[in-house]
Amino acid sequence: MRLIVTEHYNDMSSAAARIIASQVILKPDSVLGLATGSTPIGIYEQLAGWYQKGELDFSKVTTVNLDEYYGLAPDNEQSYHYFMMKHFFSRVNLPKGRQFLPDGTNPDAGRECERYQNLIGLLGGIDVQLLGLGHNGHIGFNEPADAFVKDVHLVELTKQTIEANRRFFERVEDVPRKAYTMGIGTIFQAKKILLVVSGAEKAGILRQVMYGAICPQVPGTILQLHSDVTVVADREAAGF
Ligand code: GLP
Repeated sequence: MRLIVTEHYNDMSSAAARIIASQVILKPDSVLGLATGSTPIGIYEQLAGWYQKGELDFSKVTTVNLDEYYGLAPDNEQSYHYFMMKHFFSRVNLPKGRQFLPDGTNPDAGRECERYQNLIGLLGGIDVQLLGLGHNGHIGFNEPADAFVKDVHLVELTKQTIEANRRFFERVEDVPRKAYTMGIGTIFQAKKILLVVSGAEKAGILRQVMYGAICPQVPGTILQLHSDVTVVADREAAGF
């Protein structure tokens, strides 16, 4: 794992955005694995800014997102479809037909997981996968468990994740209890992984992810085994 430490959140966002921009410049038809949560917002801001200045072109890029809440339609403001549209897709020239996320409205979990897993395979795999880090060490929505799950799956969200994500919802009862997520094997197929972490409250979990024992109870620890992981963290998150 390579660790880049930046001063503040904004520098973290620029450093990570530069890595994604280089990928798109070197390979214009890249497949980008994208993430939601508050941490990557600054990255999307920066990338959209470069596009608006004419410095980046997303016309040949394809994107696949890590996860989506089960039961939420794309026009639901809390859905990850909506998040991606607001923060990124509506601000760049990425073709609509090449923006992929799990379909939260498909109640048939078996079919949806198979469809999304196959889709990523058909795209030829992911060039760079962007990841945030949950407070409990989850990546995507791979929650702490007794075993790692390999493929795209429907996951039961933990109490801690429901609590952590309630800030985006009016009431805690509104936070969906389940989500579709890429599995650890799906994430591992990515050629490069870019993990972004910000803030003092993530310092403990980031230390465990980078240096702790590899175990499914802290899902992010598995990243130690991938051959090309860059962690970009601000000083507060990397202050261990
Ligand atoms: C959600 C997402 C994760 C994300 C995590 C952390 O649970 N499914 O992909 O990494 O939140 O979010 P934040 O960056 O807001 O702390």
